[in-house]
Amino acid sequence: MRKEKKEKKQEMASQETIDYELDPNAIIQTFDLAKIYNITEGVEIRALNGINIEIKKGEFVSVMGPSGSGKTTLLNMIGALDNPTTGAVYIRGTNIAYMDDAQRTNLRLNEIGFIFQFYNLVPVLSAYENVELPMIFAGRSKEERNRNVKKFLDIVGLSEKSDHLPSELSGGEQQRIAIARALCNEPSILIADEPTGELDTVKGMEIIRLLRELNLELNQTILMVTHDPAVGTLAERMLKMRDGKIIETITTNN
Ligand SMILES: Nc1ncnc2c1ncn2[C@@H]1O[C@H](COP(=O)(O)OP(=O)(O)OP(=O)(O)O)[C@@H](O)[C@H]1O
Ligand SMILES: [Mg+2]
Repeated sequence: MRKEKKEKKQEMASQETIDYELDPNAIIQTFDLAKIYNITEGVEIRALNGINIEIKKGEFVSVMGPSGSGKTTLLNMIGALDNPTTGAVYIRGTNIAYMDDAQRTNLRLNEIGFIFQFYNLVPVLSAYENVELPMIFAGRSKEERNRNVKKFLDIVGLSEKSDHLPSELSGGEQQRIAIARALCNEPSILIADEPTGELDTVKGMEIIRLLRELNLELNQTILMVTHDPAVGTLAERMLKMRDGKIIETITTNN
């Protein structure tokens, strides 16, 4: 028992001291990232199997790949929503596994904004209140909240619908509210998991163009999962995943 504990301690110590080669220009870097799920005893699912990526500030990167290839798992690790089995995620040169609670909270509230496929808006709150919510969590003043809600509702073109409940908005409008909500704390990184998955192609392309404009105007770094090749190619770089690995990286002319 004692010996096991000692070995475990040594193992953890050796993981902490791995000298990863950090790129000062990268805002996101992953090293040999792996995630293994064990649901049934003896059966392992390698959702991620050695991912090494490097994303620079202001880059717009898409992730594509078949269902089950590990795209959502990758976003969850990068967004600190889940922990990798092995390997590391660095955001601005800091290993997120070793952040203290305050640093992690700051990362989730201020550094990273999430856009999900199913919007995840709070049904009983108006569009305005949905956008305001993360700023309340982040402790922003009423004045600042008011200014940012108005600013981002305007950016996504929904100022006139600020009193609407999510059920009184179309799918595309709900997704634009979700984008405004992800942006309101002015995060440096925007993580989007199939943001156009529930929309028709025209509406979907509108959302992506909006993201690209924000990416160019606010120099926000965007990491976006999509199934749609037309959407994927609007990014500057496409990462193709299969079986938990990046099998190809394509640089577009965007
Ligand atoms: N919480 C979990 N427990 C066990 N296995 C999981 C869990 N989450 C994901 N997996 C498995 O990990 C693999 C990768 O899943 P992931 O959700 O990352 O795929 P994806 O590429 O996002 O797929 P999709 O395009 O369908 O959203 C799949 O085999 C999935 O079944
Ligand atoms: Mg997914």
